[in-house]
Amino acid sequence: MRVIVVKDYAELSRNAARMVAGQIYLKPDCVLGLATGSTPLGMYWELTQDYRDSGLNFAEVTTFNLDEYLGLAPDDPQSYHYYMQQNLFAKVNIKPEHTHIPTGQPQDIATACREYDAAIKAAGGIDLQVLGIGKNGHIGFNEPDLKFEATTHMVKLDEETIAANARFFKSAAEVPRFALSMGIKNIMYARKIVLLASGEEKAEAIYRTVYGKITPVTPASILQLHQDVTVIVEEGAAGLLLEGRAQS
Ligand code: F6R
Repeated sequence: MRVIVVKDYAELSRNAARMVAGQIYLKPDCVLGLATGSTPLGMYWELTQDYRDSGLNFAEVTTFNLDEYLGLAPDDPQSYHYYMQQNLFAKVNIKPEHTHIPTGQPQDIATACREYDAAIKAAGGIDLQVLGIGKNGHIGFNEPDLKFEATTHMVKLDEETIAANARFFKSAAEVPRFALSMGIKNIMYARKIVLLASGEEKAEAIYRTVYGKITPVTPASILQLHQDVTVIVEEGAAGLLLEGRAQS
């Protein structure tokens, strides 16, 4: 694992965007795995500026998002479909048919999951996977568990995740309780991974990810076994790494 500590969120966003842009320059028809949430917002903004000012070309790029809330339509402002349109897809020259996000309204959940895994495989696998991390160490919506879920699956969101994501909704009661998420195997099969973390509230999860025991109780700890992971952390989230200790 390569850990890059940066001084603030702006630098984190620029570094992350450089990694994604570099991937696109190296392989214009690359496959990107994408995350949502607050953390990558600055990275997406930087990429839209790179498209506008430097001609970063998304025409041949394919994307697969990590997750979507179950029950939300693509035009629901809280859905990750809507988020991706707002923050990236509508602002660059990516082809809509090259973008993939798990459906929030599957007719049959098992079929939707199987088809998502098959689409990733048919695209040749993910070249660069962007990840955020939950306070509880989740990646995608792979919540702390007794086992690692391998492939795309339905998840019951943790109370901690519901509370954390309530800031995007009118109240915690409105946060969907279930989601579809890529599994750990989907993530681990990515050829390169970049994990982003910002804010002191992520410090414990980051410490456990980098130095902790590899366990599904801290889902991101599995990344220690991947051969090409870059962790970009802003100083607040790197606090315990820099001190060399866990909180508890
Ligand atoms: C979202 C996702 C989640 C988030 C995580 C952190 O697609 O996969 O794992 O990355 O919940 O969210 P933020 O960045 O909002 O703190």
